[in-house]
Amino acid sequence: MNSHEKERALAEVNRHMAESCECELRKTATNVVPGVGNASASIVFIGEAPGKKEDETGEPFVGAAGKFLNEMLESIQMSRNDIYITNVVKYRPPNNRDPLPDEVAACWPWLRAQLEVIDPRLIILLGKHALERFVPGKRISVEHGRAFRRTVPELGTFVFFALYHPAAALYNGSMRETLLRDFRRIPKLLELLRKEEGGGTSSPSHF
Ligand code: URA
Repeated sequence: MNSHEKERALAEVNRHMAESCECELRKTATNVVPGVGNASASIVFIGEAPGKKEDETGEPFVGAAGKFLNEMLESIQMSRNDIYITNVVKYRPPNNRDPLPDEVAACWPWLRAQLEVIDPRLIILLGKHALERFVPGKRISVEHGRAFRRTVPELGTFVFFALYHPAAALYNGSMRETLLRDFRRIPKLLELLRKEEGGGTSSPSHF
């Protein structure tokens, strides 16, 4: 698909899923928060679920965590226009509680369809809920800063990079430092993947 086709296909996925998604959270949410950004992005960032500001505006990561994420993107000379950003769950859980397994499962066909269209080179998992969706049973405190290739049932093989969630790291000095350090590895990782796709030296052992 070329970039126009991807844009149209992604808009169609988001339109169709907003009508048909069976997540219980749609009963209490003000707005659905499908995701924003570039349908042809090399990187997709996946967070947990919309918060209050996101529920009000229909856009992901527009609150304090979003501001922090923008700063980190700037630090690697990227902006939101270069990426696509979405969440595991597309509706705000009441009082920002953790999403329940049923809610994650109900929103999975939506996330899966988004990833199928965008087909990114790299998927960044922000925090424990995103990690749990793709790599069950692992701890973010162990997996952060690690890139790994993984085949996801019903989806295909992708390269993932797990990070602490910006909201968790925002006011925690050492976690913040770790997140900033991990984040700065993204450009090198992308370059490596680009070379690999171009047929350069490649080895799954990188991951
Ligand atoms: N936290 C998330 O995980 N997602 C958002 O969209 C906002 C805050």
